[in-house]
Amino acid sequence: MISVKKENKELLFTLSTYESSYQMKADRYGVLLHLFYGERLNEGDDLSRLIFRTDMGFSGNPACAGTDRAYSLDTLPQEVSGFGAGDFRDSMVELLHEDGSRAAEFYFDSYEIMDGSYKVDGMPALYDTSATKGETLVITMREAASDVELKLCYGVYEKENVITRAAKLINKGKKRVSVQKLLSMNLDMMFFDADMIYFTGRHAFEREPERVPVRHAKTEIKSVRGMSSHQYNPAFILCEKKADEDSGKCYGFCLAYSGNFAASAQRDQKNQTRVQMGINPDGFCYLLGKDEELMTPQVIMSFSKDGLTKLSQQYHDIIRENMCRGKYKHEKRPVLINNWEATYFDFDGQKLLNIAEQAAELGIEMLVLDDGWFGKRDDDNSGLGDWFVNEKKLGGNLQDIGGRINDMGMKFGLWFEPEMISEDSGLYRAHPDWALAIPDREPNRARNQLALDMSRTDVRDYLFERMSAILSSAPIAYVKWDLNRSICDMYSHASKPEHSGELYHKYVLGVYDLLERLLARFPELMLEGCSGGGGRFDAGMLYYSPQIWCSDNTDAINRLTIQYGTSFFYPISSVGSHVSACPNHQTGRSVPLKTRADVAMSGSFGYELDLGKLTDEEKLQVKEQIAQFHDLYELTHEGDYYRLAAPKEGVMAWAFAAKDKRRAFLTLVRLEAEGNPLPVHVFMKGLDKDKSYRCMLKNDTSVINSGAAFMSGGITIPWTMGQYESVVMVFEEVNHGSFA
Ligand code: DGJ
Repeated sequence: MISVKKENKELLFTLSTYESSYQMKADRYGVLLHLFYGERLNEGDDLSRLIFRTDMGFSGNPACAGTDRAYSLDTLPQEVSGFGAGDFRDSMVELLHEDGSRAAEFYFDSYEIMDGSYKVDGMPALYDTSATKGETLVITMREAASDVELKLCYGVYEKENVITRAAKLINKGKKRVSVQKLLSMNLDMMFFDADMIYFTGRHAFEREPERVPVRHAKTEIKSVRGMSSHQYNPAFILCEKKADEDSGKCYGFCLAYSGNFAASAQRDQKNQTRVQMGINPDGFCYLLGKDEELMTPQVIMSFSKDGLTKLSQQYHDIIRENMCRGKYKHEKRPVLINNWEATYFDFDGQKLLNIAEQAAELGIEMLVLDDGWFGKRDDDNSGLGDWFVNEKKLGGNLQDIGGRINDMGMKFGLWFEPEMISEDSGLYRAHPDWALAIPDREPNRARNQLALDMSRTDVRDYLFERMSAILSSAPIAYVKWDLNRSICDMYSHASKPEHSGELYHKYVLGVYDLLERLLARFPELMLEGCSGGGGRFDAGMLYYSPQIWCSDNTDAINRLTIQYGTSFFYPISSVGSHVSACPNHQTGRSVPLKTRADVAMSGSFGYELDLGKLTDEEKLQVKEQIAQFHDLYELTHEGDYYRLAAPKEGVMAWAFAAKDKRRAFLTLVRLEAEGNPLPVHVFMKGLDKDKSYRCMLKNDTSVINSGAAFMSGGITIPWTMGQYESVVMVFEEVNHGSFA
């Protein structure tokens, strides 16, 4: 709900969801104050009374406030902060005007309320469905001296407890303006002694949570890699110090963007917390001529007064429902076998068909042919860009292979890395200027490859044509869209030097454009995002691909941490996870096959190993695992997720419960081995305390208890668990009152 109250010259805006409110005031001078974000307010509440003003002579006072020394932009909580005009904290907008001045001073101009979600130009954003419809408030702020407008967009999703923000600059003036910085949001929280939880890592170890107090020195996460990155995920949480999974106020901020981003929290001199998020201003600079505009990506914000689990569930629901799109948003996705860790580049058509044959026998539903099927590509030094089937290597075309795989009752999927180019490729020889490299400088090579200039239409047209030709030449149901290097050496042969600061952003817009075109052409296609595993795991990519390969690390024990961190924002249905070989190729660790499957099952689920090396007993296990995955699919893909124990606690445990709470299951993995072992115990979550459930144990034995008993008393595993062993327990509702 959006309400606006006018009093004298002031306007009070209150955005309310089911359990949260967000309040702002355009005050008598036109400054847009941030007043509150938190638990839902009652009608008529006006929290501008919280603002405490004292003489701020040293900080300065804007001209509109005359001689009022207690009115300073430097300390007022604001929705927009402009650089160089009296707010000395970090700004949200920085403009460079033609006369060389750098002030950005935005005052309230007008507002508009609209039914439905707002769109973000060329970028992903939450969209309406029949079940969920947003409301939009657009507040227009204006820089009088330059006649530049700033439209602040707010989306309100009532029952989802979600509010979004984005901003759009429009140059209505006659002169060009250079945008040095334009973030998606600025939020000044007045009284909030918070912790910040962000997700950090590296290739093959992404999204490990770190929790730090918000201090006067800024805590900032960011990427300049051209992608959201393995190193920092574009999402973070601010929460009360005492907040845990089940209690405490928590705020989430999640950017629907897949490129360079920056996000920070910092206390100011009055102990207010300034929160910012958006496109990273490092290396960014965007020229706007008359009537040209620039829109920021969307920040998805959510509030929970009841801890982190609820916050995560709110994100899972809205991303799953209002960000992910396409046929496979809810439709059951096939259990797949990927040949990468089974063969790497060393395969031919027969080898693939052998894998497919064995996979079909076990109940696997799709074969994904990974890297190496095109151009000259027997290692990772050549061939990228040459999207022509290597029929010699495959012993036929994709129609032959795909058809044979279909005949086995399986679907067929294919790997691409569209954004990249090898110097040793036909494409590079024909179009060296399509690669990102600065003239007269040696480019930085990563995995011996360069990035394509995705800002160019001709590059995207080529990729669209090539990919479309391949996809229509064979029965291809799925594409794994990979990206295997950080991007630098930004220089476009197709644009003028004065636009060089736009390139990183235009690269991302180019990727989105190509994805959009391809999905429009092949609406049935299922996409899996990937960037050397989880280097581009963000809400933006989930708009195009309902699942993303979570990490190149397939070690089930490392995956516990990686998938745990990923779960704070992203739905479990989006987590690409496979059972791989043992000892694991990344860590050398041996983990029981059951545990590998139990961990991978909390995700999209598939296999990535040489099935020919499995024993008969293991093959039987695989069949059972696939049956178990199908049985639990509704819970893992549509249910509520609960973190029961964090990976550092000796055991890691998590649970899923159906929305109607009739069914649930928990998975537990023991991380340590001990002599004279202590009992392994865990408290279940997500059950209805008043319902009775049958909990299935080993060997078909079961116990019936109330939800309350399983949640308050918990569950002791009635046998000894060794290191890396796992257990899955299913809870089925039994008829009310029947404890027998
Ligand atoms: C990185 C991916 O994450 C892997 O799964 C695999 O597809 C390789 N690239 C192929 O080059």
